[in-house]
Amino acid sequence: MTAPIRKAVFPVAGLGTRFLPATKAMPKEMLTVVDKPVIQHVVDEARAAGIEHFIFVTGRNKGVIEDHFDRQVELEQELEKRGKTDELAALKAGLPGPGQTSFTRQQAPLGLGHAVWCARDLVGNEPFALLLPDVLVQSNGRTCLAQLMDVYATTGGNVIAVEEVPEDLTHQYGIVDIEDGAGSSRRIKGMVEKPAPGTAPSNLIIMGRYLLQPEIFDILEAQERGAGGEIQITDAMIALLERQLFTAVSYEGKSFDCGSKAGFLAANIAFALQRADLRPALLQEIRKLN
Ligand code: UTP
Repeated sequence: MTAPIRKAVFPVAGLGTRFLPATKAMPKEMLTVVDKPVIQHVVDEARAAGIEHFIFVTGRNKGVIEDHFDRQVELEQELEKRGKTDELAALKAGLPGPGQTSFTRQQAPLGLGHAVWCARDLVGNEPFALLLPDVLVQSNGRTCLAQLMDVYATTGGNVIAVEEVPEDLTHQYGIVDIEDGAGSSRRIKGMVEKPAPGTAPSNLIIMGRYLLQPEIFDILEAQERGAGGEIQITDAMIALLERQLFTAVSYEGKSFDCGSKAGFLAANIAFALQRADLRPALLQEIRKLN
């Protein structure tokens, strides 16, 4: 029996420089895709996968994320008074229950690995999910994290979502080398963070959804800096790969890199087109652009 995964970590301490000036006073995770902040989409994905506790690693100017996941009693009362039941239901649906959220601060943006390490005491000695809020995944069936959970139920160990990119883009990502064979989940033989152009072992990137064992924290404790002078989660996973199983999952769905402007705009269009209440009007507006 594999240990259950109850907790998820959301690193939201990055500076979001690619979205300035929008992110000068507002966290980039609060930018909206259709009518929900990006971070809400990712929390919803985690809940759909059975996560019970949501751990946010925040930084300065990110307090509004904590407010977003709290109740707004005056607003609820006002909506009730005005009979706005749909809006009230939408507010309540997105909210984790009392005691289901924790917030800690990274204090300095030293890299994703460092952000994850900051959650060590809140996670404790149990496996956990890690979701990068920059990446949104649109899926028709089970969410991306739920698909990882399905694989984990049989493999245990560490499980990470991967997807293919064109070969000339591999130097921008963490890359996995997997065992030959068929099927959507395969054992990982090696990993490398941002390989020099032309040297990547495959075109499978680590795209932002992970199930990790708590021993990763012992490795991150050493605070070793990797690519870009940052403490990299991929480097810690490479060390853990020497003693634990890592499985790559080619999940079903389409990802959007909401950390880039083009990816963020594409996510807005794709998620809106998936909504029956918005699709006809949006298509009409898009046609007018030509
Ligand atoms: P990014 O490097 O894409 O985020 O990190 P960023 O630094 O906010 O973006 P730009 O490049 O300046 O626009 C991926 C994820 O890891 C988190 C970010 O918040 C983002 O969700 N992160 C990154 C941290 O929490 N701490 C860090 O030190 C670095």
